[in-house]
Amino acid sequence: MLHHFSTLQVIILAAGKGTRMASNTPKVLHKVLGKSMLEHVLHTVEDLQPESVCLVAGHGINDVKAHIGEPENLFWAEQKEQLGTGHAVLQAESLPSIADLVLVVCGDTPLLTSETLASLIKQHQSSKATVSVLSAIVDNPQGYGRIVRDEDGSVLAIVEEKDASAEQRAIKEVSSGIFCVNRDALFTYLHQVGNDNAQQEYYLPDILPLALADDKRVQATIMEHSDEMLGINDRSQLAQAETIMQQRILQEWQSKGVTIEQADTVRIEASVNIGMDCTIKAGTQLLGSTHLGDGCTVGPYAVLQNSWLADDITVAPFSHLEETSIGDEAVVGPFARLRPGARLDDKVKIGNFVEVKKAVIGQGSKVNHLSYIGDTIMGEDCNIGAGTITCNYDGANKHQTMIGNGVFVGSDTKLVAPVQVGSGATIGAGSIITKQVQQDGLTLSARPEQRHVKHWVRPKKGS
Ligand code: UD1
Ligand code: MG
Repeated sequence: MLHHFSTLQVIILAAGKGTRMASNTPKVLHKVLGKSMLEHVLHTVEDLQPESVCLVAGHGINDVKAHIGEPENLFWAEQKEQLGTGHAVLQAESLPSIADLVLVVCGDTPLLTSETLASLIKQHQSSKATVSVLSAIVDNPQGYGRIVRDEDGSVLAIVEEKDASAEQRAIKEVSSGIFCVNRDALFTYLHQVGNDNAQQEYYLPDILPLALADDKRVQATIMEHSDEMLGINDRSQLAQAETIMQQRILQEWQSKGVTIEQADTVRIEASVNIGMDCTIKAGTQLLGSTHLGDGCTVGPYAVLQNSWLADDITVAPFSHLEETSIGDEAVVGPFARLRPGARLDDKVKIGNFVEVKKAVIGQGSKVNHLSYIGDTIMGEDCNIGAGTITCNYDGANKHQTMIGNGVFVGSDTKLVAPVQVGSGATIGAGSIITKQVQQDGLTLSARPEQRHVKHWVRPKKGS
């Protein structure tokens, strides 16, 4: 769903160190279902179609920049010292913006939805407020700033846990740290905020009393689903966020016609796409940018990473696919391994204990048992016997195997690359192929003679 606020600037706070993650990676780059927290937040605010987005970074700013790249309409501000959320927002003051509204969000709240942010902005506008905060009612308010209201319910202030009285700590309405503020007022008040508090930080929430003293309207929008504001500070909260987001993603695919068996054992990451009438079986993981067309069945216990599947494909149990693409009605597995660059055309069959790497397998071809096919281009309707190996590596370099259409390769054949096999050729079982195989006819390498030892006696046990 898209929401349009023509004059909205979004400021994302992401300068903090994230000490409690105990990590060399900046906190906002940690991943929730395959996508960094910061990407989640960026994608969410993109739905609001803001005029510009400003990222306030500090700790690990170079890593953060390298990760995010240079999207259009994204500006960077550096906060060299982390002196508080108010100080962080101030770093964005000098960036070009014609917006009259600012939305401040944190880079470590990946569960936020654009619907919730839109409702904050709508309420801010309809109530003609100068400052609006997104709040939530929670059972355990620990660690959050508390929303202090007067007898009439008007918001008076946000008091940080460390500055709160015992009475204030009992308040269950907390600040999400997300604000919608008229832009002029925001920077006017931020310049007046001091750091006379328990953490000696410049708090963004301290603009509230300044606005009230100035006779401006302040309001809090209470969010419907408080789990959206979960801020990630440590790895346990990271896991918690994954659980909640996984639930959402599974429900979304179910609503779009995907059957998920034993859903609590399945992992489907945030950037995955699944067509209608697919069945995802127990223990299966769909990772990265994996795409499934319509009518695919995957698993149980299959892992698909960055793989592209067309329609009506079966990936049988315990198969592992990485950066592969597969055409309609192909069948893969059980126990197949498709490595990067495997490209299967329509109706291909890859059976058990077969490994395919950097290889094109033409339409209708079959590699059904115990084979390795690497650096190969194979035509249509081939039948590759059990135990066939493309010997693609000479210890230094990789070499190519080219196989035409309608080729039949007998079991236990070694194709020593570089080598070509002409269309229609048949290769006898156990052959070692080192030279070009002509089209059609039978090709086979010399075999040891078969002998019969007539008077041989099978040894008996204990003798
Ligand atoms: C903050 C809010 C609190 C709110 C809570 C919600 C303040 C003073 N407190 O507390 O009211 O309930 O979020 O999760 O605003 N950051 C910077 N630069 C800084 C400090 C922080 O960029 O100098 C960024 C952090 O990277 C983080 C966000 O601001 O993304 C919030 O900072 P954090 O330290 O997590 O604030 P809390 O103590 O959780
Ligand atoms: Mg803090």
